[in-house]
Amino acid sequence: TFKVGLDNPSGKISSSMWGIFFEDINLGADGGVYAELVKNRSFEFSTPFMGWKTLGKNVPEGTLIIQNDSKRKGNARSLLINKLTDFSLGLQNEGFRGMGIKNGIAYEFSLLFRTTKPGLTLHVELLDETDKVLGSSNLSLTQTATWKYGTVKFESVGETKNGKLNIWIQGTGHAEVDMLSLFPEDTWMGRPKGLRKDMVQILADMKPGFIRFPGGCIVEGRDLANRFQWKKTVGPIEERELIINRWNTEFNHRLTPDYFQTFGLGFYEYFLMSEDIGAEPLPILNCGMACQFNTGEVVPLDQLDTYIQDALDLIEFANGEVHTRWGKLRADMGHPAKFNLKMLGVGNENWGPQYIERLAAFKDVLKSKHPEIAIIASSGTGPDGERFDYLDEKLRELKIDVIDEHYYRPPSWFLSSAARYDDYDRNGPKIFAGEYASHTTRPNGPNKNSWDAALSEAAFLTGLERNGDVVTMASYAPLFGHVDGWQWTPDLIWVDNLNVYGTPSYHVQKLYSTNKGTDIIPVKRNDSNVVGQDSLYASTVYDEASNELILKFVNHNSTVVNAAFQLDSKKKINGKAVKITINSNDMTAYNSIADPLKIKPQESAVNYSGKVIKESFLPYSFTVIKIPVK
Ligand code: AHR
Repeated sequence: TFKVGLDNPSGKISSSMWGIFFEDINLGADGGVYAELVKNRSFEFSTPFMGWKTLGKNVPEGTLIIQNDSKRKGNARSLLINKLTDFSLGLQNEGFRGMGIKNGIAYEFSLLFRTTKPGLTLHVELLDETDKVLGSSNLSLTQTATWKYGTVKFESVGETKNGKLNIWIQGTGHAEVDMLSLFPEDTWMGRPKGLRKDMVQILADMKPGFIRFPGGCIVEGRDLANRFQWKKTVGPIEERELIINRWNTEFNHRLTPDYFQTFGLGFYEYFLMSEDIGAEPLPILNCGMACQFNTGEVVPLDQLDTYIQDALDLIEFANGEVHTRWGKLRADMGHPAKFNLKMLGVGNENWGPQYIERLAAFKDVLKSKHPEIAIIASSGTGPDGERFDYLDEKLRELKIDVIDEHYYRPPSWFLSSAARYDDYDRNGPKIFAGEYASHTTRPNGPNKNSWDAALSEAAFLTGLERNGDVVTMASYAPLFGHVDGWQWTPDLIWVDNLNVYGTPSYHVQKLYSTNKGTDIIPVKRNDSNVVGQDSLYASTVYDEASNELILKFVNHNSTVVNAAFQLDSKKKINGKAVKITINSNDMTAYNSIADPLKIKPQESAVNYSGKVIKESFLPYSFTVIKIPVK
């Protein structure tokens, strides 16, 4: 029997409690949610023709020349087409692990071009893996002395996960081309050159409280030159200077030598996506330190000003009036209204005295100019999830608002750590469980998001929720994994070029997020003062808007458990309750593209009355029960 102290809430659940950690890893952005289908559209990858192939026979040398003009902001290279006699010539783009093409959807091909001798026509065609043409159209490169965009649309009559784009260059002429691009029209909210609708929708379905972006290690970069600089990700897309992705094979053992960040999905788009799905934006900025697992390069303290200025300017970009420099850019990009930024992360997984010194410098300036912005500091944890004493002590001394703790640990750790925050100091910084994931095997083997992993997370999350007065945000990491191009498993959501599915871990966090409630209700076992340190885990919240008591329960036993929850309250159960259960007797079961809902929540109506909820909980199950009370 459990006692539920409904009339004595122990605190409030933060409205942004359950959120999203977004990083361009595993083809999360380029090749993923950013719907661009052409890889290396501006020839700026380390090898200019990466992803491209020349088509045609006996193509004379000097027909296709990569030019380099450093005066073109962020995008020096372009392709010169020098075709003064008629012969068969074309370019083929392979896409990101192929192109996902849907039947009956319009596709827009566009490019930047200028001509010194008009006469060339591009015959653009989309093909499937058998070379069947799914759609095509023509675009003439007309006379223009200055760079301009040309666009053409056509509909696909077939579907493939593994399509490619041919651009046949017909006629004769002399033209320069750049930003060769192909987007589906059915993007998220129909925005031109936007995001993959299904991938944003699955995020929106979680009703996330926040989106942390852009990572992760890519915030730090392999070295400081390759760190994430938000200013290079805003403004016209053709001026956004790409960089090599921190998760490129050059720095990682997984085979993704073609992994670059083009920043078509940049900070403006991240803010917009957060707004679209009702999540608080949480940008994380480089603190003057590159990834400590790579070069570990550190900027001298007397050169940190640029980094701090980036933070100030970001606040202006998000919240500044439209007459300010960065507020104007936001307005020019299409969003005069403020993005209402409330928090900012400084550094990711940085530690040691060098981090503390840099963080302190950020904090001094940020708190004096923007006391309204909460600062989130990063913190590593040791092999057993233990805090580093030095770091913890210094972050407390600095009175940092929120500490971002990360844990990638085995299921046993999650099961035994549900009480991690029960005795945590309530007078210091709040906690952001910024990257959590239960890893059934390590290192990156065939590490599936099994039910075993998800159930252990569900158990751990009862502890975060029970301690919601101090743990104010939590997110699983990483977010997306592409089945044909990943560096890290497990991930919350998996995709291929046409499909998306949520893992059991996704369904667990979604159940928390969509049933987060407003008040923490103490729940205790009658025979002991604690819950969550053995195979039964519970947490209860009350939701002001729906007048519901929401009970979450994990049974980590191989047998059914019968339990009774006694309401210690003036209120009584008022009507039918809803019970949602995820369970499996096969702890190794997981979802996949072929079987995306093998593990999924099942909903049923249940009847209780008076002040007692009596329920049977299935073996190895996670259950959420929503009980109307009055
Ligand atoms: O989520 C993958 C990586 O794990 C993140 O980039 C980093 O912050 C952590 O080490």
